[in-house]
Amino acid sequence: MTDESRWWQRGVVYQIYPRSFQDSNGDGIGDLPGITRRLDYLQQLGIDAIWISPFYPSPMADFGYDVADYVDVDPLFGTLADFAALLQAAHARGLRVILDLVPDHTSDQHPWFQESRATRDNPKRDWYLWRDAAPDGGPPNNWLSNFGGSAWAWDAPTGQYYLHSFVTEQPDLNWRNPAVEAALFAVMRFWLDRGVDGFRVDVLHGLLKDAAWRDNPPNPHWQAGMDPYRAQLQIYSRNRPDAHPIIMRMRQLLDSYPDDRVLIGEIYLPNDELMVYYGPHGDEVHLPFNFQLITLAWNAEVIRAAVDAYEAALPAGGWPNWVLGNHDRHRVASRVGPAQARVAALLLLTLRGTPTLYYGDELGMTDVPIPPEWVQDPWERNVPGLGLGRDPERTPMQWAATPYAGFSTVPPWLPVAADYATVNVAAQDADPHSMLAFQRTLLALRRAQPALAVGSYQSLPSGDSAVFAYRRTAGDQSLLIVLNLSPDLRRLVLPGAAATALLSTHGDRGGPLDLAALDLRPHEGLILREG
Ligand code: NOJ
Ligand code: CA
Repeated sequence: MTDESRWWQRGVVYQIYPRSFQDSNGDGIGDLPGITRRLDYLQQLGIDAIWISPFYPSPMADFGYDVADYVDVDPLFGTLADFAALLQAAHARGLRVILDLVPDHTSDQHPWFQESRATRDNPKRDWYLWRDAAPDGGPPNNWLSNFGGSAWAWDAPTGQYYLHSFVTEQPDLNWRNPAVEAALFAVMRFWLDRGVDGFRVDVLHGLLKDAAWRDNPPNPHWQAGMDPYRAQLQIYSRNRPDAHPIIMRMRQLLDSYPDDRVLIGEIYLPNDELMVYYGPHGDEVHLPFNFQLITLAWNAEVIRAAVDAYEAALPAGGWPNWVLGNHDRHRVASRVGPAQARVAALLLLTLRGTPTLYYGDELGMTDVPIPPEWVQDPWERNVPGLGLGRDPERTPMQWAATPYAGFSTVPPWLPVAADYATVNVAAQDADPHSMLAFQRTLLALRRAQPALAVGSYQSLPSGDSAVFAYRRTAGDQSLLIVLNLSPDLRRLVLPGAAATALLSTHGDRGGPLDLAALDLRPHEGLILREG
């Protein structure tokens, strides 16, 4: 299955949150023509594909992940013609375009749900998950919504509960009904026929729920102050084994198209369960998102152990992938600190596998504190004060030192970061030592060096608990990556004799280095050529 030459294996994916990338019509909200305007920037950055979060018609109860029509564009973001222009312009620059497919739930405003809730005998009743009340009148079981409270909402007119794994306005579809599968597969064809290069599938492990509706058991490790959703082990409300044949059929649909369309699954599961989504014969998703770099403590030993365990757990032919940030998790530069953000970028772009880069992380954008009156995210509104809200990582892209960071001409839907006058594309473009310049160099190096793009991976004993070191090899080319995850100077003794620095996070290393006495500066990461 993998000859390591597919575009989605060598390539780097860049995630665009369309509300926040570029506003083109002065309403404070990013849109598709805005993305088109910025394609030259993305091409120069050196990425290979963009994944665009949902832009379909939506009441925006969950900012587009509540879809009211799968085959159109919300007027806020533009039109189908704008999408066609974006796709064409992207392809003309050699950039692939991946759409966000949201199959688990629709908006409660989707005509399918409107019909489904109209009467109990409506033909679409069974397109969603309707259940009678428990004998006490309460919800049918104990399942929780990801965004707070019960996953069940009472529908008084028809006297039943419906399941919503996210907000109440996002009723879950019933994928045990073949008509639902047919409808969503028609949606996939609609976009594939238009030339999109693949899908990132939302909550792919949530497609099916337990057929017997069993209660989830409590999570013994949960404590007050943690995300209330995690008070249960979500074993019956998601990740059901009988979903895999559906995912295989999704893949077959993609494979019936030419030109290597890619299927990426958003799946938050531990390694052993995650790997199952590659399929027994590499016949499910190409890339089950691997979120460990987001969820793990930023510690060299922890990360080394996790990378090694992930590599060891991959099925034969399964291609790895790595994610450092997305629209649901706090920004990497805030999680690890601005000085470590370069080390983190170096890690993301030199591990074996397809990296996904979140918009703005190439500048070192940080979380933006959101005053209570600005809060937009339904999660923060429903479960306030625990730091779960996702607005901080969804703020406008910082393009320039001009008003509203060049994102818009009016106040944007979320506040612009306070540091935008210095942390922006224009300023960093002009500074050869900037984060942007570093990321461009790194992306170019990755493209030029097969060892980085497709080479083998082997972790090395660095002899230092603060340093993660590994080797990437392709043919007779061998590179060492050495990452100091600490704020201190570290002296290393690495196997091998001399090496030449190809790149340092600090920008200014050149010439031969002695591996037997290698000094790493605080927060320094290096790519070295051995020999
Ligand atoms: C995962 C998406 O990434 C997130 O933003 C969304 O709220 C949920 N799925 C529900 O669709
Ligand atoms: Ca706009």
